[in-house]
Amino acid sequence: MHVRVANLPDRCVRYLESGSGRALVLLHAFPLSADQWLPQLHRLPPGWRAVAPDLRGFRGHGPAFADVGLESATVDTHARDVLALMTHLDIDRAVVAGLSMGGYIAFALLRAAPERLSGLVLANTRATPDSAEALEGRDRMIALARSQGPAAIAREMVPKLLGETSRREQPDLAQVVTTLIERNTVDAMVSALQAMKTRPDSTPLLASIACPTLVVAGGEDVLVTRSEMDRMQRAIPGANFTILERAGHLTNLEAPTGFIEALSGFLYGVARR
Ligand code: MLT
Repeated sequence: MHVRVANLPDRCVRYLESGSGRALVLLHAFPLSADQWLPQLHRLPPGWRAVAPDLRGFRGHGPAFADVGLESATVDTHARDVLALMTHLDIDRAVVAGLSMGGYIAFALLRAAPERLSGLVLANTRATPDSAEALEGRDRMIALARSQGPAAIAREMVPKLLGETSRREQPDLAQVVTTLIERNTVDAMVSALQAMKTRPDSTPLLASIACPTLVVAGGEDVLVTRSEMDRMQRAIPGANFTILERAGHLTNLEAPTGFIEALSGFLYGVARR
């Protein structure tokens, strides 16, 4: 596994890379970073090259990273960032795996350039836009980030991100996730909250998804319920569905083995097509 920096025309992007072969792009959740994908980057099946970027503003920040356009970033901005990185890395087509916010960006990629996706993994995410209640929650989170900073966001979110089994049986994981969250800036968090708030409804897109798709849910996810994930999977032609029963919202961190097994099986199928 390598930590790399891509010098794109408008900004630098930190990304993690492992393996070689067909491309897999891993898009992280809010408010984490590419490091979320370390368990999968370390156990990638042979024949695959995984690239996990920090989404605009996250983790890889500082003067060299010139986080331009953070104030006005939308999910489409993030999708363009991912496409620019793929082009920079000579990746024409990739399987794109997005967890939660990463899934919202995967939908934006599907709208912008469906021909560049050879497969899609949607983990713990939803196609619907924010409800009125969720929009109010975003405003509360923006105010909390601005007034009390990343540590307060971590305190608020970690109990919701992790399922009850993980909280009971993997006590160290809460600290790992807290550390990932606290490495981010308030500006990155506010920008991503605004982007999620303004994301469009992707439900009309579901029936037209033409690439192989895997939907992954956490049996203990309180942020995106299994019935919501199940409905989304049934709306995507031919999509596969995996439930990791003892995981919450961060399935890939809470159940890394189950996640990589489901992902590897899916990638095997994509490679055989
Ligand atoms: C995430 O995990 O990316 C967030 O929970 C997504 C959201 O807040 O909608």
